[in-house]
This record gives sequence, structure tokens and C-alpha cells, in this order.
Amino acid sequence: MVSKGFRKDFLWGGATAANQLEGAYNEDGKGLTIADISPGGKLRLPLLFSGDFPLEIDREKYTYPNHQGVDYYHRYKEDIALFAEMGFKTFRMSISWARIFPNGNDQEPNEAGLAFYDAVIDELLKYKIEPTITISHYETPLHLVKEYGGWKNKELIGFFEKYARTILERFGKKVTYWMTFNEINTGIMGSFFSTAMRNATETENYQALHNQFVASSLATKIAKEVNPTIKMGCMSIYATMYAYDSNPETVMAMEEKNCMFNYFCNDIQVRGEYPSYALAYFEKNKIEIERTDEELAIIKAYPVDYLSFSYYMSTTVSIDPKHQDDKIQGNFFDGVRNPFLTSSEWGWEIDPVGLRIALCDLYGRYGVPLYVSENGLGAIDTPDEQFVIQDDYRIDYLAKHIAEMKKAVVLDGVDLIAYTPWGCIDLVSASTGEMSKRYGFIYVDLDDEGNGDMSRYKKKSFNWYKSVIASNGEEL
Ligand code: BG6
Repeated sequence: MVSKGFRKDFLWGGATAANQLEGAYNEDGKGLTIADISPGGKLRLPLLFSGDFPLEIDREKYTYPNHQGVDYYHRYKEDIALFAEMGFKTFRMSISWARIFPNGNDQEPNEAGLAFYDAVIDELLKYKIEPTITISHYETPLHLVKEYGGWKNKELIGFFEKYARTILERFGKKVTYWMTFNEINTGIMGSFFSTAMRNATETENYQALHNQFVASSLATKIAKEVNPTIKMGCMSIYATMYAYDSNPETVMAMEEKNCMFNYFCNDIQVRGEYPSYALAYFEKNKIEIERTDEELAIIKAYPVDYLSFSYYMSTTVSIDPKHQDDKIQGNFFDGVRNPFLTSSEWGWEIDPVGLRIALCDLYGRYGVPLYVSENGLGAIDTPDEQFVIQDDYRIDYLAKHIAEMKKAVVLDGVDLIAYTPWGCIDLVSASTGEMSKRYGFIYVDLDDEGNGDMSRYKKKSFNWYKSVIASNGEEL
């Protein structure tokens, strides 16, 4: 039956990641992660993709904004109180693997790390905010890169399994919603954040992803043993894809990209099997990865319960050479300019209808509950002397996306369970390490040079989102 609006138990909230939020990068026994050696600034992503950066902290050459994040490690009580004031039903957070196992593969977990997340989770539950936990959000322990070469090494499966078991046993009785790997499909392009490898070949990228699929299914298996009511989800970027024109060759080129980028990881994690187009792609491109029968059986036996995805923008594919000089940069991918869309200050094309298309497409293909785990506008906010921030541009972006989500629920019958806009409190940008690329409802007084006392201020969007939640998405 098609519903009249969002479900009564719809999980409104916000999303974050430990490495972009917490700071305290070397406190209470935490080890270094890949985020801790990722330099700040606009060159971050090109640098990480080039592989030309040290696996050490080099303060002479670079800045490291993730080291202090926005100091949530020491201020989480104040921040959670603000989330509660907005009426959050859920808060998507990640656990930093290196707070629990500083090297990623230590014999014993670090009790101080576990105690920190116990306190955070209890604080959320005090306000009846349901935590949603991402087990790995761009924060593989650095030791596993240096000693094991990152996710192409199958040993990481076992290390991850132990880490997942430790946190699921500790928190699995009080936390229902979990996700395994953040934006797992960025591994296809060899993102250092995802697979923790430098200068990897295409084969290594797919090997690393395969290892993560196995690790993800093992985490699902453990979750069900610990508490059968746990809901385990996968998480990938979804970029609605358009063919620039109706030339069948353009549409075919778009479809090929669409399959490998938008479907490949979801097909395996939801359906439990490698799709035939991927096997054909491997054969055509001489990609041979090591996949044992036992691993394939684990993937088959433990698919996810729901599918979550980040949606910031769509992308457009053209095979016409004249369009190739007019490229749009996006969230880990590029495309040609879509003449029907405008862009954010960081060049990401804004496309609310694309979100409805994404929801219909994914629900039609998989038929499992959907969770929009990231969405939002990275923008420059300019506070006045009293720190009043009139972020109508953000309200406009979010309102239009929520309206399209509602159409997907009401008009198209999609089973949507949650919406957690990205960076509900300002935090360090993943792609640039900047503070100036802000997404939050809550402003943090900190700039790109590290100036500011990190006080928190409510933006105009704070009260707007509060009334969206209170009206269950009716008042936009
Ligand atoms: C997603 C990531 O890619 O987009 C987040 O899961 C990230 O970690 C978010 O912060 C927004 O991207 P950015 O580069 O603007 O911070």
C-alpha cells in the first residue's frame, strides 16, 4: 500500500565520521589512521590519488586538520544535546578502528577507546536518539597500510573480523542500525580512503573490494549471532547517471558506467552474488582476483538487511569529444556538464529530482529498505558579529531533496527508513580537509587555518530542520 507520507518511525537525523569530527587523534591510546596522514587543503584528493604522499606526518610540508577535527571527543555531550534539541531520531557516527585496536591487529582491544564509545552511545540513548554505526568510515589503521599494503591483503579480513566482533559484542545489544564500509564503491577508483592502498592496479582495487565484501558479510554474520534484531546495511555513493543525448551508443556507455559504479557493490552485498556483467568485465580487462569458494559462500549466506547510500549529485555521460573539455568534478567521480543543473561552490551539480530517481531505481532493483545516509550542501557560511548564519541556500537544497524523497515514498511506494544529512555539525571535509566547506545545522567557530575557539552556534537551518522533524517531513 502506498503511504501518505514518511513512516511514523522514520529516522530523521544527521551523519558524521569519527575522523572528521572527533579530533584527539593521539589521545587515550588511539593509533594513527589513514586520515591522520592525509594532508589538508584542496590538493588533498589529487595528492591521495597520485599516491605521491608520505605515510608519515610531515608538518613541515602539510597541515592535518583531522587531528583536531571539531573536538567532538571532548565536546560530544554539548553536541548531542543540540542534536536532541533538533529532535534527531538517529545519529550516524563511525567508530575509529584505531581507537579500539591502535595498530588494527593488536591482541587486546584498547579499553579507553571502547569506554569512549560506550559513553557516546549512552549519551545518545539518554535522549532516545538511536545510534547508526558505520564500522569503517575512511579510517583504516595506518599500521595495516605500512605492514600489509592495505585491503588487497587478505589478512585484513581477519583483522577487521576481530574488530567488528569486538564492537558488535560490546555495543550490539544497544545499537540496532549498523553499516559496514562507508562508500565502498569508491574503492573501484582506488580511493586511498576506501582501500588504503597507494598506486594500486585495477586488479588490486577489485581484490581489495572483494576482501571487503567478505569482511562485510562476516560482520553481518557476527551481528546476527550477537543480536538477531540488528539491522546491518551496506553503504555506497549513488550518482544518478544520465546519458547526455539519446544516441544509443551514449546510453550504452552510460549503462556500463552505471553498472560498475552504482550497482556492482550493491549487487554483491544485497544479492550475495557477483553479477554476470562484472565477471564479463573482469574477463575483458584481464582482471583476475582471488575468490575462494568459501568466501563466495560467506558472501551469499550473509547479505545486508538494508541498503544505504550517499547522494549529493547526479552525473552525465557523453561520448561526444566536444563535451570532454567541459567536465564537472564530483564526489570521487567526474562527468560532463549537465546544462539543466546548477552547481555548488565546489562544483558539485545540484539535482533533487535525481534523488527520487535514485530511490525508485534502487528500490525497484533490490526491494530492500533504503536509508539515505548522506546528502547535503557544502557551502561557505558567513556569520555576522553575533554569529548569526542565514543559510537559506542550505535550507533550499535540503527542502528540495526531502520533497523528492517524499514523492518517492508517497507516489512511487519506496520503503525509505531514514534520512541523515551529512555533517549535521560542521566538520572537516573529506575531499579537501577544509573547514570552510560546511554542511552543518550547527556552526563551529574554526577556520581553515585553525583559528577560532570551536564554539558552537545554531544556524538558521537548525530551527528549520527541527520543524521538518517535528512535522515528520510535512513542513518544508
Ligand atoms: C562522502 C563521505 O563522500 O561525502 C564523507 O562519506 C564526506 O566522509 C562527504 O565528508 C562530503 O564530502 P566532502 O568532501 O565535501 O567532505
